[in-house]
Amino acid sequence: MKVLLIGSGGREHALAWKIAQSPRLEHLYAAPGNPGIAEHATLVSLDIEDHAAVISFTKDKNIDFVVIGPEAPLVAGLADDLCAAGIATFGPSKAAAQLEGSKGFTKDLCARYDIPTGAYQRFKSAEPAKAYVREQGAPIVIKADGLAAGKGVTVAMSEADALAAIDDCFDGAFGAAGAEVVVEAFLDGEEASFFCLSDGKTALALATAQDHKRVGDGDTGPNTGGMGAYSPAPVMTPAIVERTMKDIIEPTIKGMARDGNPFSGVFFAGLMMTQKGPELIEYNVRFGDPECQVLMMRLKSDLLPILYATATGTLDQVTVEWSDDAALTVVLASKGYPASYDKNTPIAHVPDAREDAKVFHAGTALKDGQLVATGGRVLNVTALGKTVTEAQARAYALAKDVTWDNGFSRSDIGWQAVARENAT
Ligand code: AMP
Ligand code: GLY
Repeated sequence: MKVLLIGSGGREHALAWKIAQSPRLEHLYAAPGNPGIAEHATLVSLDIEDHAAVISFTKDKNIDFVVIGPEAPLVAGLADDLCAAGIATFGPSKAAAQLEGSKGFTKDLCARYDIPTGAYQRFKSAEPAKAYVREQGAPIVIKADGLAAGKGVTVAMSEADALAAIDDCFDGAFGAAGAEVVVEAFLDGEEASFFCLSDGKTALALATAQDHKRVGDGDTGPNTGGMGAYSPAPVMTPAIVERTMKDIIEPTIKGMARDGNPFSGVFFAGLMMTQKGPELIEYNVRFGDPECQVLMMRLKSDLLPILYATATGTLDQVTVEWSDDAALTVVLASKGYPASYDKNTPIAHVPDAREDAKVFHAGTALKDGQLVATGGRVLNVTALGKTVTEAQARAYALAKDVTWDNGFSRSDIGWQAVARENAT
C-alpha cells in the first residue's frame, strides 16, 4: 500500500514510525513532515490547504491511502475532498469534525442523546452570557465555540474572571472562534482521555491516557498543548471503560449517524471522573498530541490495516492488541513556551532509540545540516516500562542525553500514577 501521511508534529512522527513497521506498506510519503518523520517517509512539500494540490499528488504517485493527523485540515474538509476524488482517507468529514470544531455542536448532541456532560447554554452576545453567569455563580467555565489552539477555555473560579473571559471572547481574543460562547457548569474530578475508532457504524475502544496540560510542575502555570502523557490512565478501570462506551461513546456514534454526520476516524473523549461517574468535557477528532506517542509505543498490532478498516467501513472485523506495559512521554519545549520563545535554536544531540524508548520529533527542522528547534513543543522522549514509575525513569534518563541548551521539560510527568503505584 502507498500511503500519504498529513502533518508534521510528534503525533505524526509516532504514526509514521508505526506505519513504517507494517508489512503491508509499500511506500510512505509525509507532507510536510519533519526530520524525525524523514527517518521513515519521503517528505513532500505540499501546501495542505491546497486540496487540489494534495489530490493531484496522490494521483501522480498512485497513493492508496491518506492518513490525516491534525484537526485543522479535517475541519477544513480535506477528508471530504479526498474521498470525493475516490481516495481512501483516514479522518472524519468536515461535518463530523464539528465534534471538535464547535463546542456548541457537541453540547447540543449531548443534550439530544442524553450523554452525561455539564449543564450549559450557548450565547452569541455578551450580556445574556453574563446574566447567565450571574445566575449560576462561580466556579463556572467559559468556552469560545470554535478552534482556539487549546486556549479558548477559561475555568473561572470567580464570577469576575468569568465575566472578563466573556468580554475577551466577544472582543475578539480568539478571532472568529469566539463569536459564539458556551457557558458550562464546572465539573470536579480527575481527567482522563479515552481514545476510540469509528467507521461511522462501529465504535472500537482503543486505549486510555492522561496528559499534563499545564506548563509547570505540580500542574501549575498556563495551559499548553500538553507537556507529557502516559497510558493507560489508572482512573479508567474496566468498569468505567464499559460505562463510558455505553453512556457516552456509543450514543455519540449512533447520534452522529442519525443526524446525517457519520463519524469515521479516531476520536478521543476528554472525560471528568465526577462523583456521578464519567462526564464528557469535550471531543477531539484526531489522535492527541502527545497522547498518540504513548499509544503507538503500547500498540502491538499492525496499525496500517486498523486505520484502513476504519476508513473503509470494516471496523467490525478488527481487534487491537496492546502491550500491558505503561508508556510515558516527556515533552521537551523551547524556553518561554507557551508564551514567546526563540526559534531556530540548535539541538546538538538527539539520542538513538533504545529497545524500550524513543525520541519523537515535533517542532524540529534541518537548517544547513543542523537540527534546530522551530516550535514550542520540540521533542517527545517516550519510554515503556512495567509500571508508570519505570517508564518515567527510562524517559527522563533518555531525556538527559538530549543536548539542547534552549530546551526545558516538566520534571514530574506521570506524578498521579506514580503516587498511586507507590501507595500500593
Ligand atoms: P478543553 O480545551 O475543552 O480541553 O478544556 C481545557 C481544559 O479545561 C480541560 O482539559 C479541563 O481541564 C478544563 N475544563 C474544560 N471544561 C471543564 C468543565 N466543565 N469543568 C472543569 N474543567 C473543565
Ligand atoms: N494533548 C491534547 C490534545 O492533543 O488535544
